[in-house]
Amino acid sequence: MEELKRAVAREALKFIEDDMVVGLGTGSTTAYFIEYLGKLIMEGELEDVYGVPTSHQSRLLAIENGIPVVGLDEVDAIDIAVDGADEVDPQMNLIKGRGAALTMEKIIEYRAGTFLVLVDEGKLVERLGQRMPVPIEVIPAAWRAIAEEIEVFNAEAELRMASKKDGPVVTDNGNFILDARFHRIDDPLDLEIELNNIPGVVENGIFADIADVVLVGTKDGVRKME
Ligand code: 5RP
Repeated sequence: MEELKRAVAREALKFIEDDMVVGLGTGSTTAYFIEYLGKLIMEGELEDVYGVPTSHQSRLLAIENGIPVVGLDEVDAIDIAVDGADEVDPQMNLIKGRGAALTMEKIIEYRAGTFLVLVDEGKLVERLGQRMPVPIEVIPAAWRAIAEEIEVFNAEAELRMASKKDGPVVTDNGNFILDARFHRIDDPLDLEIELNNIPGVVENGIFADIADVVLVGTKDGVRKME
């Protein structure tokens, strides 16, 4: 599995050129990409490339690997964003957010000229929600009210815990995460919009219709969906 992640991360480098502003996703697959990108920059193979991190985690990793980082409010545009996903359906709709960084990821990836997704073949599903719950970032005080409201959508939502001792997972934005299991997601775009209409929901992990290219790591090589 790690080898498949490394293979897609290496392939993603082909999309990066001098003078690009690159959105840096969060997670174990993107971590390889950040490492490889940093190496190319440090070796002088790429010039004037800047990274816009989607989380504290990817910011620290980028700095550690020698990628100059800038904030979203310091750039005019993002040329390309590169990130992993938890599920990908045949239309390239995604579920993201296992790393609890979904809000900043969506803000940056929505604005990128190209959104490139890196996954291994185990992430491909026929229908979103088949294996993974949909993470929903919520204002802490509203978590219970929202969890109850989610039942209207024929789903059960659970507060994501760091551990019993440490309490709930807190996002980079100071919010909580609900993981919502939907019995069936027929229209990802519609559900994405509906969930964001609930007061107290900051953002949800359905990324419908924003991926431009998906690189899939398989045992037989990297496959491209677009
Ligand atoms: C973080 C994410 C990640 O991109 C997603 O969870 C995939 O991670 P990994 O590459 O570790 O499987 O959405 O919020």
